[in-house]
Amino acid sequence: MDLYLATSNAHKAEEFGRMFAQAGLAIKVHSAKELGGMPYVEEITGTFTGNCRLKAEALRRIAPPKSWVLADDSGLCCDALQGGPGVDSAIYAGKGATDAQNRTKLLDALKKAPAHKRGARFECHLLIIGPNREEQKFLGQCWGRILEQEVGTEGFGYDSLFVPSGFEKTFGELSPQTKDKLSHRAKAFAHLVNWIKQSEIRL
Ligand code: IMP
Repeated sequence: MDLYLATSNAHKAEEFGRMFAQAGLAIKVHSAKELGGMPYVEEITGTFTGNCRLKAEALRRIAPPKSWVLADDSGLCCDALQGGPGVDSAIYAGKGATDAQNRTKLLDALKKAPAHKRGARFECHLLIIGPNREEQKFLGQCWGRILEQEVGTEGFGYDSLFVPSGFEKTFGELSPQTKDKLSHRAKAFAHLVNWIKQSEIRL
């Protein structure tokens, strides 16, 4: 099975390729770059699934007819911010904001939130569209809490602020191997792999 990823990020394509190989699935993962680049999509739907669909459909239009396309969208959802920054996680402090600026804005927004109101979850949404436009969605969530200051230098985005449930360390302190077992992306991906294994799709 040939699978095209709705991202221009070559690292994501490699990461997905590795994960499929580890799951024992003979899937050839391609980046949108092989099709001349990911078509520009304004992620304006306000939902993770809606944004995934926009990206997947844009790529579906230019991908080879018998291939599959996969889009992902993820972010951090904080209880005290009614699920924010959510779909705006990457641009929380404004378009072009750095991860550090986004983290500073989050700490500020949660400044008055007491410990019991600092619950949060990372969400990863995946949406796959097949050759006959059949669609499947998968959700992975990782629950935890937001600290009052950054700890650790591993990872990216909000990792140094987020302590996953059952742990005392942030994603910024935990090893990438530990994060890979707990993360929202790993969970969404596991659902996708199960679905592929159980479905009639022969690879
Ligand atoms: P994307 O949809 O995977 O590009 O993620 C959008 C934004 O969500 C990123 O720019 C980060 O700010 C945040 N985010 C998503 N996943 C993670 C994670 O695993 N750790 C930290 N931040 C994340």
